[in-house]
Amino acid sequence: TETQTFSIASIPGDGIGGEVVAAGLRVLDTVAKLSGGAVDFDVTEFPWSSEYYLENGHYIPEGGLDQLQKHDAIYFGAVGSSDVADHTSLWGLRLAITQPFDQWANIRPVTFLPGVESPLRKADDTDLDWIVVRENSEGEYAGMGGRNLSGRGPGNEVALQTSLHTEKGCERIIRFAFDLARTRTTKKVSCVTKSNAQQFGMVLWDEVFARVAKDYPEVETESVLVDAMSAKFVLHPEDLSVVVASNLHADILSDLGSALAGSLGLAASANLNPERRFPSMFEPVHGSAPDIAGQGVSNPIGAISSASLMLDQFGLTAEAEEVRQAVSNVTEAGILPRDLGGDSTTVEVTEAIVTQLEAIH
Ligand code: NAI
Ligand code: MG
Repeated sequence: TETQTFSIASIPGDGIGGEVVAAGLRVLDTVAKLSGGAVDFDVTEFPWSSEYYLENGHYIPEGGLDQLQKHDAIYFGAVGSSDVADHTSLWGLRLAITQPFDQWANIRPVTFLPGVESPLRKADDTDLDWIVVRENSEGEYAGMGGRNLSGRGPGNEVALQTSLHTEKGCERIIRFAFDLARTRTTKKVSCVTKSNAQQFGMVLWDEVFARVAKDYPEVETESVLVDAMSAKFVLHPEDLSVVVASNLHADILSDLGSALAGSLGLAASANLNPERRFPSMFEPVHGSAPDIAGQGVSNPIGAISSASLMLDQFGLTAEAEEVRQAVSNVTEAGILPRDLGGDSTTVEVTEAIVTQLEAIH
């Protein structure tokens, strides 16, 4: 049999990024071994981090994006350090990849795992499972605006941070959400908006949603203001299947969703360039967690589940499903990291997942 080789650019970044990326790569390594030579992952690590930035004056060196472009996917840890302003690190590394690579669809599943306590009482006796689809290329994070606009000096500074909503940008992410909803048991898309207060961008967003919805008569729809949606996440999450939202709204809602599922450390995400013109990037939702970095206690599940989304993107859906099953078996068995109330280390949780993978394969 011929081996299918996928090349992965890994960027551990800062803080716990290194630990959780190592955990995900260990799992991918196991997937390759279990395939009996059918698949292989060729991983190249890039040392771009805040430490690297402080030494070199940039996160991504000249020609860095061209190097990434040669890979089938990017596996990212986190970026953020107390030595660098957060907007410098985020724009210097993460957004410096998602934007030029037009990774306009950010998929963030909210997954409730057995054996993990949710702060939601409802989670005990209801099957909860929904996906936040985040517009990932424009909106509130378009990076448009400026400082010192008044020209009048200290005490009179004016800053402008503009949201950009294009009809094409709205349409492609909303259509993506409907296509995804079609593949799910509950065929429903909830549109998150704020068109009562934001009468330009969000009204365009609503209009595009209404127009696209007509092409999917079999998919149920609803439109909910973002403030009401945050309440709905807590009170009626059983009504959710696919939730489509702008860059900022979805950023906030997906953290809420992962906290409701038990911890930020569980949440996976895929930054997709659906046209596959550029590599897509897979990363846990959480940041560099400087408060626990270096202790070996971080939860690797967000990163490992992000690796399973990468397997989906490679067309290895059976392998992706096995990874998800292994994760679920491990939490069900009560092998939990500290953020989930357990006392297992990052490596112990990862090895337990590897053992489960070998057992169920
Ligand atoms: P954070 O996600 O790093 O941490 C928030 C809280 O959750 C902390 O108490 C942390 O210990 C805990 N936590 C996060 N991931 C965990 C895991 N895998 N296991 C166990 N506990 C976990 O967010 P925070 O504190 O707001 O930001 C820290 C740094 O990360 C900042 O510099 C920020 O800019 C950056 N950041 C980077 C992101 C990225 O690279 N995509 C996303 C979010 C924040
Ligand atoms: Mg976030």
